[in-house]
Parts: sequence; C-alpha cells; structure tokens
Amino acid sequence: MARPAARFVCQACGAIHAKWTGRCEACGDWNSIVEEPVQATTPRGLGAGAKGHAIELVGLAGRSEELSRRPTGIKEFDRVCGGGLVPGSAVLVAGDPGIGKSTLVLQAAAARSGDGPVIYVSGEEAVDQVRMRAQRLGLTEAAVSIAAATSVRDIIATLEAPGGVDAMVIDSIQTMSVDFLDSAPGTVAQVRASAQELIQLSKSRGFVLLIVGHVTKEGAIAGPRVLEHMVDTVLYFEGERGHQFRILRAVKNRFGPTDEIGVFEMTGAGLVEVENPSALFLAERRGNISGAAVFAGVEGSRPVLVEIQALVAPSSMGAPRRAVVGWDGARLGMILAVLEARCGLALAGNDVYLNVAGGLKLSEPAADLAVAAALMSSLTGVPTSAGAVFFGEIGLSGEVRPVGQTDLRLKEAAKLGFQEALMPTRRPVKRRRTKTANPEGGPEVQEIGHLQDLVTLFRDAPGRGPAGRRERISATG
Ligand code: TYD
Ligand code: MG
Repeated sequence: MARPAARFVCQACGAIHAKWTGRCEACGDWNSIVEEPVQATTPRGLGAGAKGHAIELVGLAGRSEELSRRPTGIKEFDRVCGGGLVPGSAVLVAGDPGIGKSTLVLQAAAARSGDGPVIYVSGEEAVDQVRMRAQRLGLTEAAVSIAAATSVRDIIATLEAPGGVDAMVIDSIQTMSVDFLDSAPGTVAQVRASAQELIQLSKSRGFVLLIVGHVTKEGAIAGPRVLEHMVDTVLYFEGERGHQFRILRAVKNRFGPTDEIGVFEMTGAGLVEVENPSALFLAERRGNISGAAVFAGVEGSRPVLVEIQALVAPSSMGAPRRAVVGWDGARLGMILAVLEARCGLALAGNDVYLNVAGGLKLSEPAADLAVAAALMSSLTGVPTSAGAVFFGEIGLSGEVRPVGQTDLRLKEAAKLGFQEALMPTRRPVKRRRTKTANPEGGPEVQEIGHLQDLVTLFRDAPGRGPAGRRERISATG
C-alpha cells in the first residue's frame, strides 16, 4: 500500500496542497496553510461497511402540503420573497457594508414578530446599538429578542432551550464562528460551517433564518457567493451610498420568482417602501435639457421608468474616457461602436459618461435605445421630447430588436403621462408603419426599425444645438 502523502490544507478556502507554501495558490491568502493528519488507512469504500437503508421513492404527482408562506407586511420585501417567508427556509441578504442590511432585517424581523417569537443575533453591534436603531425606527414595541453573540455553538444551545422560535436573524455571517475549526471568523471555512449548522437547525426546527452577508471587495472569497448554493433565497440589497434609494433584488429563490425588485427609500426613520418607483426615479427630472432620455424598463414583473443621462464631450486625452454608472460598460462600448460604424458618427475623440439616475442598476438590453437616444441628444444638443419614453435592443448591424413586455411598458408610460413611445417595430415589417396611435389610448407609438432612424430624428430636429456640433455630425454622417 502506498504511504499516505502529507496533506496541507488552506484554512481559508479549503484547498489541499501537496506541500507547505506561505501563500495559498487557490485563494491567495498568506499563512493559511496548515498540515493536517491524514487518515492512517485509506477508506475501504461503501462495499465493506454496514448496509444502508433503502430510500423511499415517490412519484411527482403525490400530494404535498401547501407552503405556509406568511407575508411580513412590508410589501416591497414580500414581493421580492415571492409573497412572504417560508418556515424552515434560509434567506441570505447580501450587500455592501453600510447599505442598510441591518436596518432592513431589523424591520423585517419586527414585522414578522407578530407571528411568533423572533431572535436577532448581532455579531457586529452591541445590544445597545441595536436598541438605539430600534428606537430610531420606532420598533421598540416589537417582540424581538436581541443578543450580541458570535459563537454558533452558543446560539444553537440557546435555541435548544424550551420555547419556540419563528424566525432568527444572523447579522452577519462573517462574524460567526464554530469552535471545531481553527480558522478566523470570516474565512470561507468558518462562513460555510457556521451557515451549514444554522441552516440545518432552521430546517429541522422549521423557523425562518435570515442571514446577513457582506459582499467583500474581492467578490467570491468568503463573500456571500460561497453561501448561495446553501440557502433557499438570495436577496441582494443595492444602491448608491449617496442616494436614498435602495433596491432589494432576488437573484435566487426556491420558493418564488427571481429578478423581482423591491424599492425602498432610506430616510431618517429607516427604510420606507416605495410603491411607485417610476414616479420617484423621475421626480428630479428637469425637462428640456439635452443628454437625457427616459427608459421604460421592466424589473421582474414590474415596470420601472428611469432617466438615462449621457454626456458626450470632446476629449483632451489620447485615450478618451468612458465612465458608466448603473449600466454595463461593455454594452455602452458596443452602442458607441454601432453608432460609429453603422450610422457614421465620429465619437472616437469624445469622452463619454453615462449615468442611470437614482442609483438603479439596469441589466436589460432593452435600455439600448434609450442609451443611444441620450447619447445622440448630448451629441447634438437636442433635448429628447419631455413626453417620450424609449426602449429596444440594438443589434450589431444597428437594427432595433423587439423586447418583451411591450404592453406593460406602454401602460406604465401612459400612467405617468408620457404621450410618445419610441420602440422597435412590433412585427416583422410587412407594412411599414411609422407613427400610430395606440389603440388602447396609451402613448403614440413611433417605431424605430434601425438606429439610423433615431439618428435622423435628431439630425432633422428643429432648433438644433451649437453649430460646432452640427458640423461634427453632418461632416461624417
Ligand atoms: P445599516 O443598516 O447599519 O447598514 P449595513 O448593515 O448594511 O452595514 O445602515 C447603514 C446606513 O443607514 C447608516 O450609514 C445610517 C443609515 N440609516 C439611515 O439613514 N436611517 C436610519 O433610520 C438608519 C437606521 C440608518
Ligand atoms: Mg450591519
């Protein structure tokens, strides 16, 4: 039998190495590799041991109990969870430090406490700090028991004492640790093991487990990523620190739809639900300025209108700047390339800045047309019509492609008083309609089949911007 080789295990990421090194090649951590005893005999396989028990196999058509999902009463939160929290499920709330996770989970815990005892374990803040926050949020009356603890063994011992628990909050998983591992709290091994123990307990006892996780700068390592497959629901809480809007987004949900968003506003008295996000995102809009276009987007099942702002300015640098907030930088590069190659615009010597107002992060390709309109508007100095919304995906040849949920977008635009929608051609062009009144009395639809059509609209617009700009376009286009 071969002599068992030595085993060196990284305590941060669990990678196994053949020899000791100062730095783990897998995760880059320093001084994290420790020699571990190797089992003296090689495992003999399942064949040699005791026999297992046969598993019961059942059909798909059998009857199962309905999920007893109960809403917390915070509508934006419930929507994202698929209607409410399911007993025995584990929910991960992930986000940047300082974005408002503790505030959100405390509010959710307090709302949930109407249904039964709720425990809030903070590993980051002292009991007094949590109390102060509760006071600020006006939640001191809620039946939430708080504790400051970091030992998973102690938490589990507390829960084993008589007295049921309906929900438990762990804030945050990076501060929790189990004593059977040597690695420091916050390392992958600790985060994983702590979560595993807590999730097992929540499943066996049937309480809701809300886990807070910080997104670390490095992304994957020890961040919420390592937990995503272990929990039932993953919610990302995002927003720009300087803005008051916060978006809660479901990226995984075993009990409901994903891509659903909840919109909150961070106020002096905590997070307030925003029922009509479009009105909020457009509240600061100033009409009749160039470089802005309203995008009729859909997030999950919900239409959201947002303003996209662009600034195209001559660059003084050899390599012009491209800066994007709230959208995909590569996608912006693609649209600029299509504007140059297919519509003959000279953009290469310009700095381009793009911003999605209000701190929303857009991922829909349907925003392409609105981005192109904002860029064109900035370039020509021609404001887009204050009553117009834009949506449509742009292909590499410049064609504007249809996107889903057109009716939902048009309805929302109508609701907010928009009279015009610039959007893709609805059906493959049989008879070319350009401007049609919407039969349901919504916005007037102007179909844009190719990006060139949009460019022409700006070029032919009356009251065009500064003469220099005009030359730039007509000289090349
Ligand atoms: P917090 O929930 O502590 O963030 P996280 O747990 O994600 O680190 O909240 C962070 C910010 O929210 C903090 O800078 C202060 C602000 N805040 C308010 O504006 N209003 C409030 O009522 C509360 C509780 C916090
Ligand atoms: Mg916190």
